[in-house]
Amino acid sequence: MSGGSTTPRLVTTRAELADALGARRRAGERVGLVPTMGALHDGHASLMARARRETGDGPLVVSIFVNPLQFGAGEDLDRYPRTLDADLEVCDEEGVDLVFAPAVDEVYPTWPPAVTVDPGPLGEVLDGRSRPGHFAGVLTVVAKLFGLVRPDVAVFGQKDYQQLVLIRRMAADLCLGVEVVGAETVREPDGLALSSRNRYLDAEQRPVALALSRALRTAATEASYGAAAALDAARAELRAAPGLDLDYLELVLPDLSPLSADPEPGTEARALVAARVGTTRLIDNVPLILGSSPRPPDRTS
Ligand code: PAF
Repeated sequence: MSGGSTTPRLVTTRAELADALGARRRAGERVGLVPTMGALHDGHASLMARARRETGDGPLVVSIFVNPLQFGAGEDLDRYPRTLDADLEVCDEEGVDLVFAPAVDEVYPTWPPAVTVDPGPLGEVLDGRSRPGHFAGVLTVVAKLFGLVRPDVAVFGQKDYQQLVLIRRMAADLCLGVEVVGAETVREPDGLALSSRNRYLDAEQRPVALALSRALRTAATEASYGAAAALDAARAELRAAPGLDLDYLELVLPDLSPLSADPEPGTEARALVAARVGTTRLIDNVPLILGSSPRPPDRTS
């Protein structure tokens, strides 16, 4: 790896990765990792920029690996976009030092893997309820990437909020010695959260997909009137979107535990939504603060 150059070096094997990082790790440089499944967009670029701020001049590694273990039967593993050349350009622009893009058998020498990471009860709620085994697949591959890269810091997007909470929890509970940073969601000017899956949306579906971010914005505004008001208003936005198939809309505490029946005003919460638009499953979330203000009288009646 060329210390000062911004051109990323592409490595595909564990041995090449260890060789490329060894000297710099031994020299005490801070190693940063941004795990991805490729199909990189501006959201990923912002994770890389954040990781660069965290590592300074230390080596910044981006992994590109479409992890079969986190896709369920009937999900989009086969059609998931694979765009390595374009991805390398994004990494180049962001000053990434090393791109680790292994083949499946490099990550999983035996398939299926005999030992996996159990996400515990938090892996069974929200997305975990609709995607059984998904978070075990995510945590297993992230644990492997942590073991291979041995980063000091790893950056994940808040867009996949449940994933971020679970990875933080895994790093803490299993004493993995890596700092997990959550970076803010990047949105299109109209509010749509950037996602590699947005490219599946056609011209008619894209405006429908906007209902997710609109519902969450509404929830954040209505949260000053309490949790029920926030959820009701968000649900109304989602119901009004033609052809949107809602999976869940939930309000939980930032650590994903349930809200109490009567949360104190000022309680920080997270609103999370998942829905299908056509065959594309989309997720989004926002932070919000619950209030208990009385609703002003309706002046229109
Ligand atoms: O968020 C993703 O792209 C993936 O779930 C991750 C963290 C790279 C694990 O495969």
